[in-house]
Amino acid sequence: SITKRLYHPKVIEHYTHPRNVGSLDKKLPNVGTGLVGAPACGDVMRLQIKVNDSTGVIEDVKFKTFGCGSAIASSSYMTELVQGMTLDDAAKIKNTEIAKELSLPPVKLHCSMLAEDAIKAAIKDYKSKRNTPTMLS
Ligand code: FES
Ligand code: FES
Repeated sequence: SITKRLYHPKVIEHYTHPRNVGSLDKKLPNVGTGLVGAPACGDVMRLQIKVNDSTGVIEDVKFKTFGCGSAIASSSYMTELVQGMTLDDAAKIKNTEIAKELSLPPVKLHCSMLAEDAIKAAIKDYKSKRNTPTMLS
């Protein structure tokens, strides 16, 4: 079947038991939010990280993906990867790494690109928040 041809067991596994689904409070100063879309299909992914300000380590991560099974699996796997990583290391993750782990076929490569874009956007958001002085009272 088409399903069998397109979806590797690892995709099905992440799709049926996605890790770290949910949201973090984006108003928190140490939470970065990345919201990205795939022009190819219109699917949308939101990935949020909670960062330890002094160590730069990602301490919590949540995602929501409005998209296909491969996009959900890619974001689920991405959350597992970046948990406990430094921002610098997380920024270096390539979509090809995810695609390889999940054995995504070429037609589904952009789904893993969404996960790479999402973590990069979340890191960027966190960094821009850090550089913006906040009023503490
Ligand atoms: Fe429809 Fe991705 S193209 S869910
Ligand atoms: Fe568009 Fe998977 S088909 S993200």
